[in-house]
Amino acid sequence: MIRRTHINAPGVDAGVTEAMIHNLVHRFYDRVRRDPLLGPVFNTTVEDWSTHLDKLCAFWSSVTLMTGRYKGTPMQTHAALPDISAAHFTRWLELFSATAHEVCPPAAAALFVDRAERIARSLQMGIAIERGEGVVRGSRLRNPMQPSSSSTSLERQ
Ligand code: HEM
Repeated sequence: MIRRTHINAPGVDAGVTEAMIHNLVHRFYDRVRRDPLLGPVFNTTVEDWSTHLDKLCAFWSSVTLMTGRYKGTPMQTHAALPDISAAHFTRWLELFSATAHEVCPPAAAALFVDRAERIARSLQMGIAIERGEGVVRGSRLRNPMQPSSSSTSLERQ
């Protein structure tokens, strides 16, 4: 189903397009698969790369263009990965930022990186809670896909 970009989506002013998302996602995961730290995690977990890449395009479309194309539960998916650590997130963000700056104009790259950093913080916090590692006092989970909104589905997972 074709979903339209929301008029107030953050990616509109930054010039984000579905073609740009496709390019970014595909280039990024090309690198991830070959990365010595990240590659083994993805290559042993992802069974169908075509489905995974489609899902990730839908995810970034929902985050930046608010198309609602992604329907998933990233918190649960990542909490279920047993060996995921802070080092993985650091490397993931490093590669993602480098790829975004290569593939996208500056304003779009800055938006992707900002959202990725927020989502990474949220996922790491969710994983820590899931593992019983606790969270910093006063911190609160929120949906990074809708930074200014109140309670959302990600918070309730
Ligand atoms: C900000 C950082 C990250 C974002 C935005 C992100 C986003 C996503 C999303 C949206 C999915 C699809 C979930 C679904 O099935 O609906 C996914 C899957 C996955 N992510 Fe991440 N991720 C991040 C970091 C990481 C890191 C650091 C790792 C570990 C090295 C990781 C490993 C995986 C794997 C292995 C899957 C596939 C799981 C499966 O197919 O069962 N992710 N990620």
